[in-house]
Amino acid sequence: MQITCVGVVGCGLMGSGIAEVVARAGSDVVVVEADEVAAKAGLARIEKSVDTAVARGKLDAATGERVLGQLRVVSDFDALADRQLVIEAVPEVEQLKVATFKRLDDVVEHGDAVLASNTSSIPIMKLAMATRRPEHVLGLHFFNPVPVLPLVELVTSLLTGSDAAARAVSFAEDSLGKCVIRSQDRAGFIVNALLIPYLLSAIRMLESGFASAGDIDTGMVQGCAHPMGPLALTDLIGLDTTMAVAESLYTEFKEPLYAPPPMLSRMVDAGLLGRKTGRGFFDYVR
Ligand SMILES: NC(=O)c1ccc[n+]([C@@H]2O[C@H](COP(=O)([O-])OP(=O)(O)OC[C@H]3O[C@@H](n4cnc5c(N)ncnc54)[C@H](O)[C@@H]3O)[C@@H](O)[C@H]2O)c1
Repeated sequence: MQITCVGVVGCGLMGSGIAEVVARAGSDVVVVEADEVAAKAGLARIEKSVDTAVARGKLDAATGERVLGQLRVVSDFDALADRQLVIEAVPEVEQLKVATFKRLDDVVEHGDAVLASNTSSIPIMKLAMATRRPEHVLGLHFFNPVPVLPLVELVTSLLTGSDAAARAVSFAEDSLGKCVIRSQDRAGFIVNALLIPYLLSAIRMLESGFASAGDIDTGMVQGCAHPMGPLALTDLIGLDTTMAVAESLYTEFKEPLYAPPPMLSRMVDAGLLGRKTGRGFFDYVR
């Protein structure tokens, strides 16, 4: 069964990008947000991204129009009933994701629908066990910005069926044109298990007064040819998301290198979440 009807839960930074690439690939997409206000904001996020792609010549105007015509952003969870694949992209909070998978299990009618999470770090088994169909639950971890970065991590739990995994890989590779790597179900998977300790080290370096934010980032951009420095990257990911991923890693491995430094948690408490709020380690015009 080829996947052509896709659902996305959450239309923030990641959900909006996932919905856009899935619609660009020709599938019909229903995105569910928490309420009407968030649904409106989510649709505006997708429209802005499509308009920017058209303005930059990355997408022709007719395709841009087709993409927007192929997706709906709603606040009614029942709109996911007929989906063949649902990708969950709500905030990185375990109870919220577990509750979302319980609801998906109740609402999605296709017996062999794939229920995927875009979680950066929460073990897939915890989400799978919230459903009565753990063999259909897996991780499909996209990267930000989704329309630009080609990688998807496929994460299978001990209970994920090989058929669901094969259909998810075929969708990501053949329909979306993404590059898929496979990870065991361990907090952080491959990329964040490597990336998060690096970002936290940069924050500890800043916190200790060792160097300025600008110099830390310039060091990694000019000296190591990274496209952006670790503090700018943390601002792009979102400090709240970075903190949540660090906490999942720390809970799983109990290694000090994954422990969020106090500066990160104070900034999250203060609402200095990075680009999405206009201020993090650097300031942004919104
Ligand atoms: N930010 C990144 O760079 C990045 C990269 C890869 C994966 N992720 C993962 O993607 C997920 C989402 O992260 P994000 O950065 O898009 O967060 P975000 O805060 O930008 O978006 C989350 C969205 O979910 C919505 N939401 C909250 N509760 C909901 C509910 N009950 N039903 C429907 N929608 C609900 C919110 O209104 C919000 O729009 C997280 O699991 C995160 O770890 C993030």
